[in-house]
Amino acid sequence: MKLPDLCSFENIVIFTGAGMSAESGVPTYRGAGGIWSEYRYQEYACQQAFDLDPEKVWKFHELRRRMVHQCQPNAGHVLVAEMQASLEQISLITQNIDGLHQRAGSDSVTELHGSLWRVRCEQEKKVSDALDVNMPSLKCECGAWLRPDITWFGDSVDIFTMELATTLAAQCDMFISIGTSGVVFPAANLPIVAKNHGAFLIEINTEATEASHLHDLELRGKASDVLAKIWNSAC
Ligand code: OAD
Repeated sequence: MKLPDLCSFENIVIFTGAGMSAESGVPTYRGAGGIWSEYRYQEYACQQAFDLDPEKVWKFHELRRRMVHQCQPNAGHVLVAEMQASLEQISLITQNIDGLHQRAGSDSVTELHGSLWRVRCEQEKKVSDALDVNMPSLKCECGAWLRPDITWFGDSVDIFTMELATTLAAQCDMFISIGTSGVVFPAANLPIVAKNHGAFLIEINTEATEASHLHDLELRGKASDVLAKIWNSAC
């Protein structure tokens, strides 16, 4: 099959989900072995759970931080970073909170769902980096609990981040979804926005998703393999 040449597009959005990090050993959220089949998000990933038992919620997130810390960016992350460095028309939007795109060298990443590597004090409305895998304190200097700077279930996506992502999707002429089930909104609106504005949509995924029908080209396979094929046939 002839793959579209990335270099013939003016604005490209790469939109990644948990499948992008699967080859690094980070579990996805849904399906067999998915995080939400092992942990009920109602107990670990929503503000109500945090208000009820912050230590329990933090234990889950500290476990995730330690696990992700041990994982390395995979060939797919490295390719995305290489593509961004070579083609200035590429923007990267991720739903992932693992920071692996940045560790692979992507320096401009729109993180829709926040990051495991930042914390937030709700009392002071202050966001800070928390890059050290062993958190020195789970409490802010003001005495309030810090919470992970992540979009939990029931939270709104940061309005400025969503606005930026929506603008990028509306302005692009190619939109590449990689490793996302396309069921979590408002993130799942982005391919719809891109399509409504006339972009060409590619889906890279090991299996069909609920958003597959939106895409002009469905490429089945692992993110790193399919990305390598696309990149090798560019320019
Ligand atoms: P999901 O777990 O819902 O979907 C992962 C997708 O990746 C599935 O469609 C898999 O088929 C696909 N996949 C698995 N391995 C792959 C590989 N090696 N190459 C390509 N595709 C692969 O993850 P997301 O769609 O990212 O929210 O989930 C969206 C949001 O739901 C997440 O950001 C998270 C979660 O609740 C927050 O953390 C706030």
